[in-house]
Amino acid sequence: MAVRRFSEKKLTAEVLFRIRKTKNKRLKQVMTAYIKHLHAFVREVKPTQDEWFAGIQFLAETGRWCTGMRNEYILMSDTLGVSMLVDAINYQAGAGTTESTVLGPFHRVKAPEYALGANIAKHASDGVPCLVSGTVRDARGKPIPRAKLDVWQAGAGGFYDSQKGKAMNLRGIFRADARGRFHFRCVRPEYYPVPHDGPVGKMLTATGRHPMRPPHLHFWITAKGYKPLITHLFVKGGKYLDSDAVFGVKPELIVDFKKTKGGIAAATYDFVLMKEEK
Ligand code: BEZ
Ligand code: FE
Repeated sequence: MAVRRFSEKKLTAEVLFRIRKTKNKRLKQVMTAYIKHLHAFVREVKPTQDEWFAGIQFLAETGRWCTGMRNEYILMSDTLGVSMLVDAINYQAGAGTTESTVLGPFHRVKAPEYALGANIAKHASDGVPCLVSGTVRDARGKPIPRAKLDVWQAGAGGFYDSQKGKAMNLRGIFRADARGRFHFRCVRPEYYPVPHDGPVGKMLTATGRHPMRPPHLHFWITAKGYKPLITHLFVKGGKYLDSDAVFGVKPELIVDFKKTKGGIAAATYDFVLMKEEK
C-alpha cells in the first residue's frame, strides 16, 4: 500500500482522522478539541526540539511532585486560572445566590464534626481568635435547616494541617440549626503563599508572579435539594485581594472581620444556596 507523503499542513487532519472510531461521543469531542488546540499552539509558538523537550520534562517533574497529600496539577490548574474558568462555567450564581470560588488542594474528607459554637483551632498558637456566624438560606430567604458546613483554613504560619502531618486541625463540619443559623470559632484568616517549592513555584517566579493568596476561610456547604456551594469568605482590607495567585477573589465574598472589644475578630455572612437542577 502506498504511504502518503508527509505534509505538515495535513498532519492535524490526519490525527483527527485516526480517532474517528472513538465510541464515546464526549471523549471524541474532548480529544478532537485537544488535538486541534495543541497543534495550533505548536504552530503559533514554533518550539525548538529543546524547548519541546523542556516542556515535557516540566510536566514529568510536575507529576513527580504529586503525592497523596499534594497535587501539583491542581496547583497548576489553579495558578493558570483554569480552575476558576471551570467553576465559572459550571456554577453560575444568580438572583442573589452566593458566588462560588476555587476548592484548592487542602480540603480533607472526614473532618471532625462539631456542635455549633465549637472552635476548629486546637492550639492557642493557631492565630487570633475569631467568631464566624450567619445563616444558610434559599434564594427566597427561606432558612435551610441542618445545612452542612464544611470549613477549613490555614493557621498563623500560613500552613494547612496537611502540610505539617496527619493530625486534623483548623477544619471541621457543622450543621446549621432548625432556622438555618450557624456559628463557630476559628482564627482570623491571614494571607499565605500557595506551595511554591515545586515546578509551579518555578513557573510563577519565571513569569514574574508572586504565590500569595489573600486571607480567606474555606466553605463547602451542602443541603438536600440544593447545589453544593464551594466558596470562601475573604477578609476586607486583606493583602493580595487584587492579585490572588489563583484568581479566586469575587467582591461579593469580601467581608468585614471586625475587631471586638475582647481582641476577638468577628464576621457574619448569610449564604444563599441555589436549588438543584432537576
Ligand atoms: C487554598 O486556598 O487553599 C489554595 C487554593 C488554590 C491553590 C493553593 C491553595
Ligand atoms: Fe486556602
